[in-house]
Amino acid sequence: MVLSAVAITGCSKHHTDGAVGSSQLTAACVSALNDSFAQDVHPFLVKNCAGCHTNGGSGKTKFAESSVSLAWGEFSSMGNSGIEKVYNNAISDSHAPGVTGSAIESEATLAHDNYDATLSGCTSGIVAGTQTEAKILNLDLGDEETLVWNLSDSLSPSVSGMSGAFLFLDIRADAGGYYVISNPRIRTGPNGIIVRDVTVYINGSKVDIATLYRGVNMEIPAWTSESSNEGTLSLDSIILESAVSPSTELQLAFAALVAN
Ligand code: HEC
Repeated sequence: MVLSAVAITGCSKHHTDGAVGSSQLTAACVSALNDSFAQDVHPFLVKNCAGCHTNGGSGKTKFAESSVSLAWGEFSSMGNSGIEKVYNNAISDSHAPGVTGSAIESEATLAHDNYDATLSGCTSGIVAGTQTEAKILNLDLGDEETLVWNLSDSLSPSVSGMSGAFLFLDIRADAGGYYVISNPRIRTGPNGIIVRDVTVYINGSKVDIATLYRGVNMEIPAWTSESSNEGTLSLDSIILESAVSPSTELQLAFAALVAN
């Protein structure tokens, strides 16, 4: 279900393995991060962490695989905060005593700072958009329901760091024969979420009247519950002119939806 009208940063979907921010950063950024990882971070990880963070080892994420592309895929699965996690564990005396700790702090700092410089440059200019999968509205006149999207598996392109995050939208098939949507809201998990510019699509076409959510520009904190003000994207209801019919499909698209 591709919405050609949505400006989605092209190449991100060619980067597989959930590459860092592939859906939230431009292809150029992902490529720059991949290069920085290969040059600045990967050698450090292989040298110091391969005892555990490789296939068969006890470390959960296998970011110290000798293959750069495998290691990059693993590293990127941790999202944009991966570099901080790696750094913090690298300099921790208790994480893997004898391996991690102050002895490798200067090396770790160098790896961190080089990568982080590239990352900060990228995140200051987020451009990538994403969209939800389509929901079929199987409503009779007078019915209402809450549409729910699990943001960790229903966005295209997918966005990392969305575990535990859900998007809700109330919809009613008005007796007058049209749909009314209201109360778009997001519940967050361990990450905060930045949301910009929400558009509504019916059967793959942008609903022009649904401009009311276009101004959304919010930073929702981590662990925000479904019903809180902080997670409410808009208090406005929107009447969609499209006629109520059993096969109607609805999607939301975002200029930006990124874990923070
Ligand atoms: C002696 C084995 C061992 C070594 C060596 C080791 N780790 Fe770990 N690491 C683990 C284990 C086990 C876990 C999972 C449990 C936990 O989070 O503590 C883990 C978890 C982590 C995590 C949490 C993310 C995840 O899902 O894996 C990070 C980040 C991490 N290690 C970084 C490092 C870095 C960086 C190094 C090298 C400088 C390193 N570790 C060396 C055993 C190790």
